[in-house]
Amino acid sequence: MTTHLHPAQADGSPRPEGPGEDPHRSLHSQTGPRPGEHPGRSANPLVKVAGLAWLEFEKPDLDRAGRFGTDFGFTVADRTPDTLLLRGRQAASACLVIRRGPRPRFIGPAFAAGARDDLDRLARGTGGTVTAHWGGHAVLLRDPSGFPVRVVHGIPELPTLPGRSPLPLNFGTLLARANVTQRPARRPAEIQRLGHVALGTTKFRATLDWYLEVLGLIVSDFLYLDGQRDRGPSMAFIRCDLGSVPADHHTLAMALMPQTGYLHSAYQLTDLDEVAASGEYLRERGYRHAWGLGRHIQGSQIFDYWRDADRLMFEHYTDGDVFDAAMKPGWAPMSVSGLAQWGPKATAEFTGGGDPRVVVSAIKALRDKGNEVDLRALRGLIKAMSS
Ligand SMILES: [Fe+2]
Repeated sequence: MTTHLHPAQADGSPRPEGPGEDPHRSLHSQTGPRPGEHPGRSANPLVKVAGLAWLEFEKPDLDRAGRFGTDFGFTVADRTPDTLLLRGRQAASACLVIRRGPRPRFIGPAFAAGARDDLDRLARGTGGTVTAHWGGHAVLLRDPSGFPVRVVHGIPELPTLPGRSPLPLNFGTLLARANVTQRPARRPAEIQRLGHVALGTTKFRATLDWYLEVLGLIVSDFLYLDGQRDRGPSMAFIRCDLGSVPADHHTLAMALMPQTGYLHSAYQLTDLDEVAASGEYLRERGYRHAWGLGRHIQGSQIFDYWRDADRLMFEHYTDGDVFDAAMKPGWAPMSVSGLAQWGPKATAEFTGGGDPRVVVSAIKALRDKGNEVDLRALRGLIKAMSS
């Protein structure tokens, strides 16, 4: 299939990678791990979670949250005076649980357990308690960064909603469409599902190891601070271990930052036209664009980032990589330019680089001895943000 779409490269450039070749080569990442480096997985995790179930937020204005939600491409699954549930179109739990609260903030993620027994194992291993939750069961944990992490099982799924099919595309002589025009509409996206959440933390290594040891997640790609590979990774793209079943390249992305908090979350759309045309719709509605369109390196997604009215960042994506458990982590230096293969230069709106609160957080993090932020790390992060 790949060779069919990419006939012989007459200019002698490398042929696109096919199955069985190392996808960590070239742009994706330079190298695999060196001896003694972080293996990117636990030899004996407590459980192996099956996926990311939903994300929980607090917002003071649920009407406003609902307007952004439907403009961004969610469907309202339920609304009470104090809770808003936003869903995608695939059969699953709601992607977003938004509770009325005093200020807009991310609370934490919920992961789906592979089996009911896993909740008992987690409760025994962490001192937690299994409770009834929304028709199923849940155990509430806390990661070393302080995020409450729910692991759930047996919660009834919302049924599939009909959704758009990918547009039929003509590729050179491969014609999928004759005597038919292409007219994708500028309208709200149809979100298929929740893809991943990205978090910043001042306790990167401790939190990374917790997700690998407790939830059995495995690393797809590590980034390190340029010139500081000796201190280990400073960012990780982490997926679920589903054995031979391919899983999203990352379900969780986590980076060492001067402040612990939510960076963004990402939602899958059907194709590139859907990402671009629904972005035009958001632009026409006056929402703040953060970065895009482009194609990432780690995960390969075609991406477009937006901020909601509370300045929380949300990503539309399509065409992401999926890896089975056999894939070992790649290693590459961390830089803003290294986040995309193509697309516009990443903006301060995306990186948060123009925000004066970053300086205050950095000073606070340096004073606080209970984290992994030191002057050398800060210098590395500043270099990464500007390279
Ligand atoms: Fe993302």
